[in-house]
Amino acid sequence: MCGILGYIGSQQATPLLLEGLRRLEYRGYDSVGISTMSDNGNLNVLKTAGRVDTLTDLIGNHLPISNMGIGHSRWATHGPATRDNAHPHVGGNCDLALVHNGVIENHDELRTRLESLGFYFKSGTDSEVIAHLIHWHITQRTKLQSNACGELQEQDEFRSRIQGVRRALKELRGSYALVIMFRDQPDYLLAVCNGSPLIIGTTDDGHLIGSDKHAISHSAHQFTRLEDQELAVIRSDSVQILQKTNPGLASREILWKEEDTHSLSFDDSCTYSHRTLQEIHEQPLTLKHMLSNIEDDFHSFPIEFLNNLPKRILILACGTSYHAGLFGKYIIEAISGIPVEVEYASEFRYRESPYQEGTLLLTISQSGETADTLGALREFKQRKQPTVAICNVPGSTLTEESDATIFLNVGLENGVAATKSYTADCAILSRLAMLWGYQKDVNVSRLSLLINDFHTIPQMISNVLDAKESIKNVAHTYEDAKRFLFIGRGFDYPTALEGALKLKELSYISAEGYAAGELKHGPLALVDDQTITVALATPGRTYEKVLSNLEEIRCRGGQILAIGVEDDQRLKRVANNVIYVQKVDEFLQPLVNIIPLQLFAFYLALARGCDVDRPRNLAKSVTVE
Ligand code: AGP
Repeated sequence: MCGILGYIGSQQATPLLLEGLRRLEYRGYDSVGISTMSDNGNLNVLKTAGRVDTLTDLIGNHLPISNMGIGHSRWATHGPATRDNAHPHVGGNCDLALVHNGVIENHDELRTRLESLGFYFKSGTDSEVIAHLIHWHITQRTKLQSNACGELQEQDEFRSRIQGVRRALKELRGSYALVIMFRDQPDYLLAVCNGSPLIIGTTDDGHLIGSDKHAISHSAHQFTRLEDQELAVIRSDSVQILQKTNPGLASREILWKEEDTHSLSFDDSCTYSHRTLQEIHEQPLTLKHMLSNIEDDFHSFPIEFLNNLPKRILILACGTSYHAGLFGKYIIEAISGIPVEVEYASEFRYRESPYQEGTLLLTISQSGETADTLGALREFKQRKQPTVAICNVPGSTLTEESDATIFLNVGLENGVAATKSYTADCAILSRLAMLWGYQKDVNVSRLSLLINDFHTIPQMISNVLDAKESIKNVAHTYEDAKRFLFIGRGFDYPTALEGALKLKELSYISAEGYAAGELKHGPLALVDDQTITVALATPGRTYEKVLSNLEEIRCRGGQILAIGVEDDQRLKRVANNVIYVQKVDEFLQPLVNIIPLQLFAFYLALARGCDVDRPRNLAKSVTVE
């Protein structure tokens, strides 16, 4: 989703901003823009609907010359993806330019008031409202001050500008990260945030500001995070963060941090036709890496938070991470007997969930920037109980705000569809289940068998990947399908949900995931010869039950594509198509079973001409509620 950049220093700002915008591309966006200071002291704004390449073409050989600037990639929330709605937005008569990430909930009433004060709006965005509002408040403060003291001294001018910005911010309801540049102040940028992150970085000759570390780590080597409601004054040679509790100009001490030791490699190279395909193929390696010292060593885990056996575990997450959490519930409860609840982070935030002593919160998020998950974490933290994040991005807001983090260490996941982060989440949750199983001394014999089986998974995944041509052929036979039902039971219920999510987000075909036992309670009405049921039917406690469900579908004319094990004659008889996987312990089978579903969704989407790496309407990092 939206990404923000700012630079001030002695280098040319435009190339640094463009490089930063490219680094933010993976988040998903639909328009881009930059603003720089022109020679004649005006704000120069260049923006366009489309990609960074479109902006680069627009700039052509006329690179704006400026040592400061701001940049933005926009994912539309208010108003379509047009040039006018793209950022930066200007306030007053081009007196200031700003970039915004977040959502302003009371933008309508503010717009009406500003219109009545004579402001003219060029866009339909909530962000332009902020630009005019800030301009208005600054003008009011400056007028007041100069009426009181005549000509304003530099320091008074600065003070009334800050007061004006603060007054404007007080009127905003919602979330924001803002970087602002003023036409008449060529020596500083202002940055402020509330519920949307901003990282400030030092470069050899100045400062960069970005929505995340990746956006600025091409040039910055030390980083600090702005806290909610703080205001930073960023000059080329200094950064001043004004204390949020002090209405004056008192600043707080800044702690600069070097690059995290868990640094996420930002390898931009793609050796496959698509990043999503590459990331699907990376899974044997990411899992092998994770399993390398599983037997005797949980050293990468924050043991101090896990050793103290929780009475109950609450898992909060969204989308694919939520599905991994659901798998976590099955395996943690089965192995350790600790009760686990899993909930959508977006639901937890706004309901009255009773306090329970001895709860450990596990949040799961690939990006660590998902607004719903962060909101739920903040809500839960008021209970003063431990919080552990499972996350892929070091230095992300989730990792900073949780008591401890277990890192996925799978490298950058660039495709919007989560693939390798899902299997890594499931593997980590399985390890946690084993850790707590050992601690409770339950199922110990089963545990050593499980660990043996765990080691076979990377090879089993490789074998599925080797069979990708046949999965591609199967996918092509469903190119014109209108509707899919994914069903699974027990450990594979989350796999069914995740398989359906992959198919709908990549191919835009309607796909629903169900617990197979629920079919007869409603979804069976959907079954006809146009409905394809994708069934997870590998051996396990509920295998027979799933097979009965498939019989019910078949006799109603439904088509069946099953994921099963080789030599399963019964499955062959009932299903129209079977994709084969190898058998592993039922508890771990979902880690293998999801791979053919990822490939199936990928090839089906490709056959339908979809943009698999960047599905329409979606963003990699969902930073608004
Ligand atoms: C999955 O393919 C998605 N694109 C999406 O559901 C994602 O998992 C969700 O937005 C949560 O993201 P997070 O893991 O970064 O918090």
